[in-house]
Amino acid sequence: MTEKIVVFTGAGVSQESGLRTFRDMGGLWQEYSIEEVASPQGFAKNPALVLDFYNVRRRKLREVEPNAAHLAIAELERAFEVVVVTQNVDDLHERAGSTNVIHIHGEILMNRSSVDPTLRYPAGDKVEIELGDLCEKGGQLRPDVVWFGEDVLHFEASERHFREADKVLVVGTSLTVFPAAGLVRRAPYEAEKVVVSLDLDEVPRGFRFLRGKATEVVPSLVTDWMR
Ligand code: OAD
Repeated sequence: MTEKIVVFTGAGVSQESGLRTFRDMGGLWQEYSIEEVASPQGFAKNPALVLDFYNVRRRKLREVEPNAAHLAIAELERAFEVVVVTQNVDDLHERAGSTNVIHIHGEILMNRSSVDPTLRYPAGDKVEIELGDLCEKGGQLRPDVVWFGEDVLHFEASERHFREADKVLVVGTSLTVFPAAGLVRRAPYEAEKVVVSLDLDEVPRGFRFLRGKATEVVPSLVTDWMR
């Protein structure tokens, strides 16, 4: 039977593509306040500031490309059943060729109604969301990203994938944001479990820690696993 691999990624996997992480030196949360730009209260208080924060990131995403780590993860599909569960709102896994990607913190290139979360639209060619861009119910559009205080998306499905995993590969996440980070504990005891990161405060139980850059460590691990 084909082995199942669950890959769980965070901002560190996209860092070498040129996207900023959140909690490292120079990370986004050192420059911006989470309450101001990533909470429903912040959006209610100053929607223009919040839209601007995400518009800058949407523009940036159009300038960058998937890196060797994204490509190696996509390559795994040639030999395994693969599910990528990502905390990232970028589309670099998809552009690298991964076909089964679950975005538990949403997708920055989707627009969402602020009055009805079920109304979601691809951003298409219009990169920016402006004040006054409305959904069909007349509510202001916002990016389809999960803010602090909002529910993580596809959580039960993600938990199920972790429980079914033969191998788990965690890449580039500080594992500090819950409930997302709790998913790694759902992996079976007997599964092969590896975490790749530049730095990690606490390695989850049962995981082998490979310290290093995602673009160096992930391709060599994938070569190993494909052998
Ligand atoms: P963090 O910024 O918290 O953590 C990034 C991790 O990646 C750190 O452990 C770094 O050591 C590691 N790292 C950085 N560059 C790397 C590289 N080139 N190769 C390998 N590892 C590298 O980012 P996340 O864990 O993704 O949520 O943050 C989780 C959530 O917090 C995000 O999804 C976002 C944020 O607030 C929401 O916005 C809801």
